[in-house]
Amino acid sequence: MAQLWGGRFTKETDQMVYDFNASINFDKRLLRQDVQGSLAHVRMLAKQGILTAEERDAIIDGLQGILRDVEEGELTIDPSYEDVHSFVEANLIDRIGDAGKKLHTGRSRNDQVALDMRLYVRQKVMDVDALLRGLLQTILTTMEENIETYMPGFTHLQKAQPVTLAHHYGAYFEMFKRDRQRMKDILVRMNYCPLGAGALAGTTYPLDRDYVAGLLSFDGPTLNSMDSVSDRDYLIEFLSALSVIMMHLSRFSEEIIIWNSNEYQFVEIDDAYSTGSSIMPQKKNPDIAELVRGKTGRVYGALMSLLTTMKGIPLAYNKDMQEDKEMAFDAMDTVTNCLMLFTGMLATMKFRKDRMAVSAMKGFTNATDLADYLVTKQVPFRDAHGIVGRVVLACIDKGISIEEMELSELKQFCDRFEADVYDAISLKTCVEKRVTTGAPGPVAMKAQIEAGKAYLESEPELSL
Ligand code: ARG
Repeated sequence: MAQLWGGRFTKETDQMVYDFNASINFDKRLLRQDVQGSLAHVRMLAKQGILTAEERDAIIDGLQGILRDVEEGELTIDPSYEDVHSFVEANLIDRIGDAGKKLHTGRSRNDQVALDMRLYVRQKVMDVDALLRGLLQTILTTMEENIETYMPGFTHLQKAQPVTLAHHYGAYFEMFKRDRQRMKDILVRMNYCPLGAGALAGTTYPLDRDYVAGLLSFDGPTLNSMDSVSDRDYLIEFLSALSVIMMHLSRFSEEIIIWNSNEYQFVEIDDAYSTGSSIMPQKKNPDIAELVRGKTGRVYGALMSLLTTMKGIPLAYNKDMQEDKEMAFDAMDTVTNCLMLFTGMLATMKFRKDRMAVSAMKGFTNATDLADYLVTKQVPFRDAHGIVGRVVLACIDKGISIEEMELSELKQFCDRFEADVYDAISLKTCVEKRVTTGAPGPVAMKAQIEAGKAYLESEPELSL
């Protein structure tokens, strides 16, 4: 047991209580942020005349040494400390003696941990943004290459109207673009420094909070000390945005699993991103897509957990808030891994364009276009809808597609059908005629792709 407190206690802490209370096993990943925050703190303390320049330099040296030694494997974080903050302080005192005891002047672990977590999450927001940008680039490349790759578009998982692969991917481009916008938005709102809030009521030392905030690239200090130590909104927002990312990845995964199925065979997942079966030699399973879909639950879990933890906490800091870490870290790791693997899987996936086109031709995806054709021949749309419904029924009966029906037969349903009908309902025409903004027609699609490129150019990876 190695804790920072104990003066007012007459008995040792019960070992189980100590273990239950300790957080070092998971907050040790905040070491870098803890050191970074402490460096800024001591620089400010010296600037304000609270520490001498010698004390400051000794502490800076000591802190940098701790970080370096841990990162180089020379020093291991001792799990008998209560938390990472205690470990750093004790190690600092070991290294530099009494000056190390001054590090915590004008600071509480409450504002310290609030800062560490904010620094950590801020970096993760930027990392996730960069991964999303990479994913968008991969999606856009596939879009550019597949403006004329026809496939069925579905509603209710029933073939609906023909689209293109570019168009289908374009939907995901929009989703992940919004995810990036959320990252940007979170970063703007969260980028204020809580250090200097003390335990809850500020401090009596003449701290320069603006200076510390500047050193750590924040836009300024947080404005209320009680809120500073008890705010985890930014983390809830991040987990919420991560949940939406997972929801998007999960939907995309579900589609890839369907496309990869023996029945569809629209895609072939690269061997490097597939797995086999221990018993069935013929199997090549889409495990990565399934795992991404499956891992969505634990990210939602982290969001629900923190929302629930926070809902009943009175101001200001309460130990419940230590529960903001484990599941959130897991969620951040999960999303990072999922984004990396999913992007790799997409980049290497092959498309069976022949199978997609055949599938688009079968299944009456041009039925709406046939009705629209009759409208051009002055048949009111509602009547045209009925006529085409009857044509489809007859085709199903015969086991043929609409374009396989003879003109003479079509005429039995409506005498307005002419020889030009076949061109009007060809896959190519059906797609090409869809020209409205956001539609799959090549003109509209090229505009979407241009907009996508302009977006990626104008929105580089987030930085401070
Ligand atoms: N491990 C604690 C946490 O993560 C650090 C803050 C401790 N503060 C306290 N008053 N006990 O929240």
